[in-house]
Amino acid sequence: MTTYLDAETAPLRNTGQIRLYNEEAFAGMRKACNLTARCLDELIDIIRPGVTTNTIDRFVFEFGMDNGALPATLNYRGYTKSTCTSINHVVCHGIPDDKPLRDGDIVNIDVTYIVDGWHGDASRMYPVGNIKRAAERLLEVTYECLLRGIAAVKPGSRIGAIGAAIQSYAEGERCSVVRDFCGHGVGRLFHDAPNILHYGNATDGVEMRPGMIFTIEPMINLGRPHVKVLSDGWTAVTRDRSLSAQYEHTVGVTEAGCEIFTLSPRGLDRPGLPA
Ligand code: MF3
Ligand code: CO
Ligand code: CO
Repeated sequence: MTTYLDAETAPLRNTGQIRLYNEEAFAGMRKACNLTARCLDELIDIIRPGVTTNTIDRFVFEFGMDNGALPATLNYRGYTKSTCTSINHVVCHGIPDDKPLRDGDIVNIDVTYIVDGWHGDASRMYPVGNIKRAAERLLEVTYECLLRGIAAVKPGSRIGAIGAAIQSYAEGERCSVVRDFCGHGVGRLFHDAPNILHYGNATDGVEMRPGMIFTIEPMINLGRPHVKVLSDGWTAVTRDRSLSAQYEHTVGVTEAGCEIFTLSPRGLDRPGLPA
C-alpha cells in the first residue's frame, strides 16, 4: 500500500512512499526551478548550427557555478556531464560530445540544478537553424502533451489522469508515447516516488494530494514507441530511428491544481515556436 509522508520528517531515501511538502519546501523548489528555467532561456542564444553539445554542457556547468548551483547529473550513477543533450532520434540521456549541431536538427536540453538541496528539473526542445515541418509538428504535439498532462494535475484525481491525457492526445496526432522512461517525484531527492507514466488510464495510480512535487516529461515519437539504449549505457534512441521530442516541467500540487515551478521567466518555454 502506498502511503503519504510528511517530507519534513521522512528519511531521505526513496522508500516508495510519497512525500508531501510544505510551503517552505515549495519556496525552495521555486528558487531551484527558476534557475533551471533561466539557464534554458540563456541557451536560446547559444544553440545554433556549428555549436557542439560539449559547449552547451560547459555553459550549463558554469551558469550553475555562477549562481551557487550544482548540476544534479554530475557524477549521478556514473554520468559525468552537467546536462543531457538528445538530438533527433535520441529519445533522452544523450551525452554531450564534440560533434557540432547541424542545420535542421532538433535537440532536447535537460538541466537539473541543485540549489540549497532542492532539485529543479526541466527540459525543452531547441530547433537548430531551419527545421522541417514534420519536426516542427512533433515539437508542437510534444509541448501540447506536456500542457495537457499538467492540466490533469489536481488533488483528488489519480496520477494516471496525467498519462491518459498525454497518450490520448499524442496517439490522436498519429504519434507514439515512449513507455521506457517516466516522470518522477523530485525535491530533496533527484528521482523519488511516484513514477509519473505518460500513458495509461485516468483511474490508474495513487491519488494526487496538495504538497506532492513531481516532473512531467513526455517523450513522443513520430514513429513507433520502442527504444533501445546504446552501448554507452545512457543514450536512448528510437528503434525505428524516427524523430523523438521531449519537454519537461517540475510541478507542485496545490489545492487549486498545480504550480509550474520551471516556467520560463521570459515566456520562452517553447524556443523557436510561438509562446
Ligand atoms: N534530468 C533527467 C530527468 O529528467 C535525468 C537525467 S539523469 C542522467 O529525470 F544521469 F542521465 F543525467
Ligand atoms: Co526528470
Ligand atoms: Co530532466
